Amino acid sequence: MEEVGRIFGDVGLGQFHLSLSHPVERGDYLTVDDELHGKVLCQLDDLKRKSDLDLQRAGNLGTSDLVPIHENLLGLARIIGYRDGQGLVKVPTIPFRPGAHVFRADEPLIAEVLGLKHHSATGAYVGMLRNHGLKVELDINQLVQRHVSVLAKSGGGKSYLLGVMVEELLRHHVTCVIIDPHGEYGSLRVAAEKNGVHARFGVESQGFAKQIQEYSPDVTLNPSAKPLTFSLHHTDPRDLLIFMGLTNVKTFLGPLKQLIERVGAANPDYTVKDLIRAAEAGEGAALETLRERLEYVEESKLLGPVGTSLNDLVKKGDATLVNLRGVAPDVQELVVARLASTLFENRKKGKIPPLFLVIEEAHNFAPQQGQATCSRILKNIASEGRKFGLGLCVVTQRAARIDKSVLSQCNTQLILQVTNPLDLKAISSSIEGLTDGMTEMIQGLPVGVALITGGGYHTPLFCEVRPRATRHGGESVAIVAA
Ligand SMILES: Nc1ncnc2c1ncn2[C@@H]1O[C@H](COP(=O)(O)OP(=O)(O)O)[C@@H](O)[C@H]1O
Ligand SMILES: [Mg+2]
Repeated sequence: MEEVGRIFGDVGLGQFHLSLSHPVERGDYLTVDDELHGKVLCQLDDLKRKSDLDLQRAGNLGTSDLVPIHENLLGLARIIGYRDGQGLVKVPTIPFRPGAHVFRADEPLIAEVLGLKHHSATGAYVGMLRNHGLKVELDINQLVQRHVSVLAKSGGGKSYLLGVMVEELLRHHVTCVIIDPHGEYGSLRVAAEKNGVHARFGVESQGFAKQIQEYSPDVTLNPSAKPLTFSLHHTDPRDLLIFMGLTNVKTFLGPLKQLIERVGAANPDYTVKDLIRAAEAGEGAALETLRERLEYVEESKLLGPVGTSLNDLVKKGDATLVNLRGVAPDVQELVVARLASTLFENRKKGKIPPLFLVIEEAHNFAPQQGQATCSRILKNIASEGRKFGLGLCVVTQRAARIDKSVLSQCNTQLILQVTNPLDLKAISSSIEGLTDGMTEMIQGLPVGVALITGGGYHTPLFCEVRPRATRHGGESVAIVAA
C-alpha cells in the first residue's frame, strides 16, 4: 500500500487532519489501519498548502525564486468507515492516533465499504466510480420506491444521465412514463454510434424501439407520436378553456358553459364538432372566438369522446414518452395534472404496474413559488407515491425553484455541475451527508461526472456517467455552422 501521509493535531471521530507526503487529490480514497477494526476507509475532503511565506517576505521576493520557503501540504479527511462482521458499515468510536500512517485505499476496500456490486439483479449500471475502475449501480427498487432528483445547471448532463437510467430501467423491464417537454427522449429508440468510451465502460450500443411508446397532445408538430386524447365529457369547462388556449376566464367561461349546457341537453353524447356547430349558429364575438379555438382543439385531437386508454398509454416494461414539444405551458401543466392523477389513482387500485414517473423541467410543474395546475398532485405523489409503487423522478436546472417538499422527498440525488449559489444552497440544505468540500466540488464538476447520494449507498460518491447505449436527443443546436 502506498503511504501518503500522517495524522496530526486533534483527531475527531468524523474527520482528521493529515500532513501529506505524497500528492493526493480532493475526493481520493484513503485508509488508516485501526488497532481494533483493521482498515478504515476515509476520503480526502479538503487540501491546503501551508507555508511560512508571509506578506512582507512575499513582497521582498521580487523576481527571485531563491528565498527558501517551507511548505506543507495539509489534508482534511472524512472517515467513511469499515464493514463489521455482519456486513454493516461502522465508524470507529475511538479516534485514530496522531502520527498514524495514512495510505491510499485499494479498490477491494473501496468496493467493500462503499458497497459497490457488479451485475446485481436489481442494479442499474450508471457509471464508474470517479478515477477508479469500479462500476456504480443504483438499486432499482430504491429508485422506484424512494424517488429521485436529478439536479444540474442547464447543459450539465441531466437528460443524458436520465437517458442512461431509462436504458437500465428498460433492460430490467421497469415501466416508465416520461414527461418530455422538449421531445428529447425519442432517440432512446436509436442505438448510439459506438466509440472508444463504450469499450472502456463495457457498454454495448442498443436501441429500445420495441419498448418505447410516444404520445403527444400535438401530433402535427410531433408526427412520431400517437395523439394523447382526453375525454371531452370528463373535462370541466375551466380546463376546456385551458386546452383551447383561452386565458381570459371572465369573458369566456360563461358563454362556454351555456354552450355546453345547450348542446348537452340536446345530445348527451355531444362531440367537439357539435360544440363548433352550435357556436357557429350563435352570434357575438365571444362565440366566434370559442368556435375558432374549438376548431383548434378538434384538429389537435386533444379531446375526444373517449380519452386515450390507460392500457394503451402504460404498457408493462415499456417507457411511455409524453412529448410536450411546442405545447403551451398551461396546457402542459394541465396534461401533467390529468396524467399524474390518473396514474396515481390507477396505481392505488393496482390497475397499472408499478412505475417510474419522470418529470423533466420539474421546476415548471412543481414550482416553489406560485402554483402550477399540477403542483398539488405532484406533491401528493412525492409524499405518498412510494406506498403505492409510483416512483417520482424530478429533473431540474433550478433546485432553488422547485417545491422544497417535493425535493426533500427524493431519497436519491444525482447531482451534476451546479454553479448558481441559490441552487447550491437549496441542494446542500436538502441533502444529508454533503460536506462543505463536496458542495465546493459540485461547482467544478466536469460534464459527465455526477455526485450520487442515496440510491442504496450510505455515503455520497462521485460517478463518471457511462456512455449512452442509445443516441442522446438533447444535443445543443449549433447557431453558427462550423
Ligand atoms: N456523460 C456524458 N458523456 C458525454 N457527453 C455528455 C455526458 N453528459 C452530457 N453530455 C453532453 O453534454 C451536453 C448537455 O447534456 P444534457 O444532458 O442535454 O444537459 P441538460 O439536460 O442538463 O441540459 C450534451 O450535448 C451531451 O452530449
Ligand atoms: Mg435536458
